[in-house]
Parts: sequence; structure tokens; C-alpha cells
Amino acid sequence: MTESLYPVPAEWARKALVDAERYRALYRESLDDPEGFWRREAQRIDWIRPFSRVDESSFHKADFAVRWFADGTLNLSANCLDRHLAERGDDPAIIWEPDDPAAEGRTLTYRELHRLTCRFANLLKANGVERGDRVTIYMPMVPEAAVAMLACARIGAIHSVVFGGFSPEALAGRIRDCDSRLVVTADEGLRGGKPVPLKANVDEALRDCPGVSRVIMFRRTGADVEMKEGRDIDWAAAMDAAPEDCPPVEMGAEDPLFILYTSGSTGKPKGVLHSSGGYAVWTSLTHQIVFDYRPGQIYWCAADIGWITGHSYIVYGPLANGATSLMFEGVPNWPDPSRIWQVVDKHQVEILYTAPTALRALMREGDQWVSRTSRKSLRLLGTVGEPINPEAWGWYHRVVGEGRSPVIDTWWQTETGGMMIAPLPGAIALKPGSATRPLFGVEPALLDAEGREIAGPGEGALVIKRSWPGQMRTVWGDHSRFFETYFTTFAGYYFSGDGCRRDADGDYWITGRIDDVINVSGHRLGTAEVESALVAHHSVAEAAVVGMPHEVKGQGIYAYVTVNAGLEPDAAMRAELISWVRKEIGPIATPDVIQFAPALPKTRSGKIMRRILRKIAEGELSSLGDTSTLADPSVVDQLIANRTLPV
Ligand code: PRX
Repeated sequence: MTESLYPVPAEWARKALVDAERYRALYRESLDDPEGFWRREAQRIDWIRPFSRVDESSFHKADFAVRWFADGTLNLSANCLDRHLAERGDDPAIIWEPDDPAAEGRTLTYRELHRLTCRFANLLKANGVERGDRVTIYMPMVPEAAVAMLACARIGAIHSVVFGGFSPEALAGRIRDCDSRLVVTADEGLRGGKPVPLKANVDEALRDCPGVSRVIMFRRTGADVEMKEGRDIDWAAAMDAAPEDCPPVEMGAEDPLFILYTSGSTGKPKGVLHSSGGYAVWTSLTHQIVFDYRPGQIYWCAADIGWITGHSYIVYGPLANGATSLMFEGVPNWPDPSRIWQVVDKHQVEILYTAPTALRALMREGDQWVSRTSRKSLRLLGTVGEPINPEAWGWYHRVVGEGRSPVIDTWWQTETGGMMIAPLPGAIALKPGSATRPLFGVEPALLDAEGREIAGPGEGALVIKRSWPGQMRTVWGDHSRFFETYFTTFAGYYFSGDGCRRDADGDYWITGRIDDVINVSGHRLGTAEVESALVAHHSVAEAAVVGMPHEVKGQGIYAYVTVNAGLEPDAAMRAELISWVRKEIGPIATPDVIQFAPALPKTRSGKIMRRILRKIAEGELSSLGDTSTLADPSVVDQLIANRTLPV
């Protein structure tokens, strides 16, 4: 493989918070003297009661725990708001750019954000929310979504943000799993000029959620929506009546902060739980050093708050650092493919953080959409969510950044709370497609199929050898599932689910998931989730879902479906199944291909051989491997003959 190398520019080496020498020294220290390193780094957070203990984690069954700074107390909303008031109360905390470029945006100063958060926290309390209660947030990308999150943090309630693109069914499942009694939503969302019926979705979801007694609804579009007497509350009217004084609650470092549902290789999505202290330290540290963030800079993370990237790098990390965080309601290609760059120019964005899938989609539209804008304000370009192909990396660097800005590829996961492997811009030479080096305290290793550590260059399963402060603490309601999912594939290690290569320089190259998780446009989906949606349809007898390469989305969804005996599958049924999956999960799970298959390839013990299905979906028909162990090898020929191309 040819690898181009982009050395650290002299100016970055000189001016960055962390240069190469400092990176080496601090990284060493973080592994050799973690206690001293984290004791010092944790001072970036204001503790109410200082911690005396640092890391008490173990990945081993006998004393399994993930625990940091356990006897310290703090409040994360106070760290994100109150402590900035004296010095930068009038600085912008959130700049909101609406969907429609002609509509008026908003800028909320730290003082304004603090005031709204306190009021909303009082509103939650007035509606019976207490410390430890769960609050589900199903909101569009408006500042009120951040207000709702911070208000929960202020009173010790646990928020569970559900992405606005999820269906009523998916929303209901997530509300029930964590037993939320209150839901925060909006009348409608607005994306690319189209309304998203959030309140109607909530109404539908709540038919199956008898535990929910209150819905607080923000009016975004003013659409005519039904309000259920005694249950639904209008945000604006109630906020006017809520008092402004709301002291932050003293929380233990290990008290839960939020739940965020994510897909795994088996079963239903799991509620990843993050706690307060370690998460605060981790998101604040990584936001500062990876983006080389300095107060006053305009910073834009173009993710949705429904995903971990939005939690850690629109809300908690940047606000803990007193940053100005831009929040964008719209989509990259509406009204035209120039939108992102227009927003950059309009707000003089210096740091942009986005996903490879957005870059690939924009790259296809041609350079003219980019080159008609200035982009002179940009100084750093970040990416996250999926492997970035060198073409997209090169385009981002050359066309968007005009060679002036480093492209920072950050590898991490919902479970890790924040970035884990990424080049510090003043310290590490860049390689397109490589997330390069581990951040402080992160000790990665590659394991072979037998679970042995690979020394030097090589490829294997990516594991992390010791805990870090931002690590998830448990799966909500199922602590044994936490241990089983992440610490038993390779005993004593955290297993990421990703494959990875390490080159001769020690740089890491993530190759993608090696479990049954697929990554569609940076959105993580379990193949099992899509399969169970399909088999829930009355015509479907069996379904198997695998990923397939997709030029823009990274991976697409390829579904093999066996229909019930006596039915003749046709185009109408294909269309029906596609809309069925959208209804069950949401548009992000729309299958790209449905191939009707009279039978699936199974071993004699009845296990579906996914390896073969993956190869057929990928079009790699010459490397199907050994099919002789199948109960009926002729099934494979049938599948190949009926291979279906994306519509
Ligand atoms: O496969 C990896 C991929 O996204 C997965 C995590 O997805 P999620 O929990 O939704 O979090 C996404 C945002 C942090 C990982 O297991 N992934 C994430 N970042 C990268 C990546 N793959 C390659 N390169 C990355 N930079």
C-alpha cells in the first residue's frame, strides 16, 4: 500500500498546545504514572469535593469494575455553565444555524444558556423529575435540546436522547427500556426544508408506554399538533412561569449522567451508560488537545445530538472548555451542496468536525460548490464515524482546506465516551486513512484469532488494555451484558468490535467492524436488528442481513429474505418490506437491496453462514471459500444466480 505522509507544519509544531516532544512525554507518563497524570488532568474540572481515589477499574471477572475519581463530587452543568459566567458570561456558547439559510439564527451566550437551563431544570422538578429519574429527549437540532440535556445534568436526572430520525416503535422501545416518565420533544423538526413529525411520533410511541405521564413540547415550526390534556405541556408557557434560580445538585463522580442506545451484534440496542466525573475529564481533555482549541474560536461539530458525537463534542466537551459551539439544524446538501461551506463563511468557523459520508456525498457534486466559497477561516478539519477513504481525505485536505488545514481522523465509539486514537495536530504526521496514534492513557493492542497480542506491524482485533476515564460504566439494567459483550471475547481486554492494522511506524489503521455491526453513513446498526424487523412482517419466514460496499454511505444494507410458503415475492412486496423496516426502525435502516431467497445457506446444525452471504453481497463470487460444510451447497448457486443489484 502506498502511503503519503503529511508532516506536522512548522507553524503547528510551534504554536500547538501539544508538540511531538510533549506528546511523547505525556503519553509515556499517562501509562507509567497514570495516578499522577490523571490527578493533574482532572483539575480541568471544578470538583465540589475533591477525589482522593483515581482509577479503580479492572477488566477481569473477579474484580470487574470501571470506576474513576469515585469519591469526588461535581456537577457537570455547573462545569459547562456557571463557572464560565464571571469571565465569559457574555461570550457565545451556542451559535444556532437554522435549516433554512434565509431564516434568522440565534446566538446564546453562556449567561443565556445558563438561565434557560436553570429554568428548564425547575420545570422538570415541578413535573416530578427527581435525581436518578430518566428523561427521554427526542428533539430536533435546536439549542433547547442542549438545554434539556444540561438541565437533567443540573438536577441529577439521567437523560436518554433518542435520534429524531428514529421511528415511533424504536422510540417506544428506548423509553420503555429505561422507564422514562417524561419525554421532551418538539412539534416538528425541520431538515432540508421538510418537516419531521416529532410530536406525532411521540404520540404514537406513547400508546405503548403507559409509564410516561408528561410530555414537554417545544414549538419549532408552529405546526398544528394535538396536545393531550393533563399530559402535554407547552415549553414556552411553562418556561415563563419557571423560576430562574436552580442550584446545581452535588453529584458523585460515578453517578449516571446519561444513557445512549446503540446497536450491537446481538439483540436489541443496548443502553450505554456514562457517568459524570470521568466523562467530564475525558471529553474536555480530548476536545481541547485534538482540536487544539483556544477560547474564542468558533467550533462546529456537524453531528446530531442524537449520537455520541453530539453529546461529547457539541455539548459537554466544548461547553466544559468555554468554547463557542455551532449547532446546525440542516443537512449538507440543501438548498444546495454549498451549504456547509456557506455556514463556515457566515460564522467564520475555524474548526470543522464532520463524517466521511458527508464528504463523499459532497465530493460527488463537484468542486465548484466548494470553490465558490472562501473558507479562509478554517484551520482544522476533523472526521469521525467510519473509516475515511484516502480519496475523501485528500479531497477534504486539498479542496476544502486548500492544503492549509490538518485533517484529523478520530477513532472512537459510543462506548468510549470520547476520542481514543487521533493525531494531535501539532505532534503527529498525518496519513490519509489512518487515525494514527492513541491519546493519553489509551493503551491499544491488536490480538490474533487465538487472542495473542501482535507485536510490531500487523493486523488483528482492536482491544484496549486498561480503562480510561471516559469509558462506559454499564449497560442500563444489565450489568452482566456489559461484561459479556466487551470483556469475554478476549479475557482481560476491552474489545472494540473493530479490526485494525498497525504499520511499521506504529500508526493505527481501522479496517472496520469485525462483528455483525454495520456502519451506514456513520450510523451504527446491528444486522440482527434489521433482521428482527424483517421477520416481524407477516409475509417473512426468515431473513439474513449483511453489509455491502456503498460509494457514499460507506456500507449499505443487503437483506436476504425467505417468504412464507405459498407466497410469490414481487416488486410490490419488496417495496412493502422496505417501508416496513423504515417504520420499525427508521429511515437510516432502509435496506438498499432485498434479495428474495427460497433458502439461506446453513450448516448442518442450522447456523446461517454469513460469510458466504457477505461475499455474495460484496460481489466477491470467486472467493466464497469452503461451501462443502453446508447442509445444501446448491443453495449458494441459487443465491448467486439471483443476486440483486441496488435499486
Ligand atoms: O467501526 C468504528 C466506527 O464507528 C464505530 C463506532 O460507532 P458509534 O458508536 O456510533 O460512534 C461513532 C462516533 C464516535 C466504531 O466501532 N468508527 C468511528 N470512528 C472511526 C470509525 N472507523 C474508522 N475510523 C474512524 N475514525
